[in-house]
Amino acid sequence: MTAMSLDIDRVRSRYPALREGYAHFDGAAGTLVAARAATAIADVTGGAVANKSSAFAAGRRALAIVADARSAIADLLGAVPEGVVFGQSATALTYLVARTLAEGWPPGDDIVVSRLDHDANVRPWVQAAGRVGATVRWAEFDPDTGALPVEQYHDLVGPRTRVVAVTGASNAIGTMPDVAAIAAIARAAGAMTYVDGVHRTPHEPVDLAELGADFYVTSAYKWSGPHLATCVADPMLWEGLRPEKLVPSPDAVPERFEYGTLSFELLAGVTGAVDHIATLLTDGVPAPEPGSDRRARVLESMAAVRAYEHRLFTTLLAGLAEIPGVSICPAPAAGCPTVAFRVGDQHPGQTAEILGDEGICVFAGDYYAYEYFQAMGLRESGGAVRASIYHYTTSGEVDRLVDAVKRCR
Ligand SMILES: Cc1ncc(COP(=O)(O)O)c(C=O)c1O
Repeated sequence: MTAMSLDIDRVRSRYPALREGYAHFDGAAGTLVAARAATAIADVTGGAVANKSSAFAAGRRALAIVADARSAIADLLGAVPEGVVFGQSATALTYLVARTLAEGWPPGDDIVVSRLDHDANVRPWVQAAGRVGATVRWAEFDPDTGALPVEQYHDLVGPRTRVVAVTGASNAIGTMPDVAAIAAIARAAGAMTYVDGVHRTPHEPVDLAELGADFYVTSAYKWSGPHLATCVADPMLWEGLRPEKLVPSPDAVPERFEYGTLSFELLAGVTGAVDHIATLLTDGVPAPEPGSDRRARVLESMAAVRAYEHRLFTTLLAGLAEIPGVSICPAPAAGCPTVAFRVGDQHPGQTAEILGDEGICVFAGDYYAYEYFQAMGLRESGGAVRASIYHYTTSGEVDRLVDAVKRCR
């Protein structure tokens, strides 16, 4: 084993739920929770953790949990802790940001959304635009390649564009648009870029500065953590925004954007999940030091994850492509390891059930990639089966999936 490759047995030993024996190709809908995250959650619920207070130990623990989670997210994404806003889900956070930003837009401004995106990065913008009379412009993907061509943004983005909302990776077919190029076009026109990083974060090293994203949203349950999400931006950007809020709730950034009492137990799980990622290449002890050490280890881990997952994904694609009657939704080669396919004219829901009966977990439907499946003409007839590789997937499981699909016909 080289220093930079995953030891799959060690990785899998950190997921207690794998003992159940299922082959999980459903990570795009939510991964299993890593032991480190689960333990961190249990420790909070089983210990004395009060609401935030500096007056007594249990309150100070809550303060520390929040601070630790902000710094963990900063290390995961290359952000600063003061710019990390937590919320219930990526959908809820995007609604909040869209609603807040749109309040200042005069009628006639415009926004750009894409048909490759999960609806969570489409509808909040479309609805916010509708309320203030802004125009919605649509970036189209190429149905033959699954790519989201950058050039179209030169035409779509203009002097009155406020926001370009774009996915970091498609949750349907894995396409990773050239976000940096799109963000550069937006920035040159004075527009902001809001990146849905929900499907990208589990599979790729992420660096916000490299992406050029003004906002980046991700959900921890897609990368071994609990059901909690974060939206990250420069604290100065948050400073300029005034969300609706309670009168006595904190006005400081980032708390200004966090409604009610945060889930301390889940925040501890978020930190546990980031530490899990940071220690994927080691024996996990001791915990990584927050800051540059953990950041460097996250990047190393994610580079190894990407290499590992892509190796398996290549085998999976080749195996599926050889099965007569299987049609694969086209996608660029360098995307995230997620494939959407159909088996002959079998309803995707039926395929998923057949595979489910064999202990293989896949999703079927549109998985809220509503515009994508609508544009492909597949939504009404059931969308597609989706299989997603994660870093606990084994090559044996890939073979098992391919063999099972052969039998679905
Ligand atoms: C790409 C993408 N964006 C957004 C979401 C929505 O995330 P959440 O459930 O945190 O709102 C999902 C969930 O499947 C997703 O895959």
